[in-house]
Amino acid sequence: MVQASAPGKCILFGEHAVVYGQPAVAVAIDQRMNVKLELSEDWRIDGMIFHPERHPHVDALRQRMWNSGPPLSIKITGEIPPASGLGSSAALSVAASAALRCARGRQITNDDWAEGWTAASPNNVYNGPWEFGKGDSVLFGMAAVDEDECAILSHAVEAHAQGGKASPLDSSTCSHGGCVVLSDKIENNLNWLYSRKLNDVRWEVHSIELDIPNDIWLVIGNTGLHAPTSEQVAKVAKVLEEQPERMTEIETIGIISRRGITALLEGDMEGVGRAMSENHLLLRNLGVSSPELENLVTAAAPSSLGVKLTGAGGGGCMIALTRDPKTTSEAIELAGGRTLISRLASTGMSVDEEGISGLWNPFEN
Ligand code: MEV
Repeated sequence: MVQASAPGKCILFGEHAVVYGQPAVAVAIDQRMNVKLELSEDWRIDGMIFHPERHPHVDALRQRMWNSGPPLSIKITGEIPPASGLGSSAALSVAASAALRCARGRQITNDDWAEGWTAASPNNVYNGPWEFGKGDSVLFGMAAVDEDECAILSHAVEAHAQGGKASPLDSSTCSHGGCVVLSDKIENNLNWLYSRKLNDVRWEVHSIELDIPNDIWLVIGNTGLHAPTSEQVAKVAKVLEEQPERMTEIETIGIISRRGITALLEGDMEGVGRAMSENHLLLRNLGVSSPELENLVTAAAPSSLGVKLTGAGGGGCMIALTRDPKTTSEAIELAGGRTLISRLASTGMSVDEEGISGLWNPFEN
């Protein structure tokens, strides 16, 4: 048995604008998705027959990482509500790619990767049938798993599910954990991780070591309405196509993100909150809020440093940065939302159970 998990994420600044290359910031949250794999007689997911069309993310990973492997029983559990802007699909993809890699192992030649996905060659994989030559060996378990690779695979799968338009924000945050910043250029004051490119948009992916005071919390308010990211991304694309001059609003979101990043680096939580609330107003103008989100944002505002919708919007979740999570959470619940409470910048992907050896050793086929 192999089990891996990955955190969900909240976007503090810059959703939607990041699709067009503007800076954005996300933090990993305490709520996680877990994926457990076991060998099975036939393909199963949560005990039922696996229907690829119902689980496109898992299916896309299965094709990339397990294309001639034996059938698996896959169990998915977690505390992240689906289609709610908290990165449930990215967290699922990261956890599933970690579990599949752990189970399948990785061929290495003289200590270098002989197969796998890297930032330099995101489409490159050696998918077998494997040949075992001189100097080759295979790593199994945690030793075979790599955070960057999980982020790349998760991004590829997200992009596919979102009709080709997806930033690597969710996938990188759910893989590395902590606080991730995307920008159109390498930011000297941040820790640069790697570059990503998709359809002519290029992002520089960074992390920030956050020093968040102990009394600061995120309260997440869920409207309970499902709004697929792809639809919201398409809605913004349509607005910009019909009114290209509104690209200035996207750029203004980028300016607010920068202000938020400075406040985060300075530990100025009031400044972070102000930037969040300003960001919300711009998102509302773009048309990705909803009456239900506005209701929760209004309820949370009096007890918070900042409030905004998070993720794609249209439904899904809002977040409040607060020193009084109990009062904020009660206010959101009274207004009809369901709440989760999280710290900012939780830990990233982990392999929680690696089994005794690979579930599938391609060299034995
Ligand atoms: C979704 O969590 C965030 C969006 O900006 C889409 C993306 O970044 O791919 C709306």
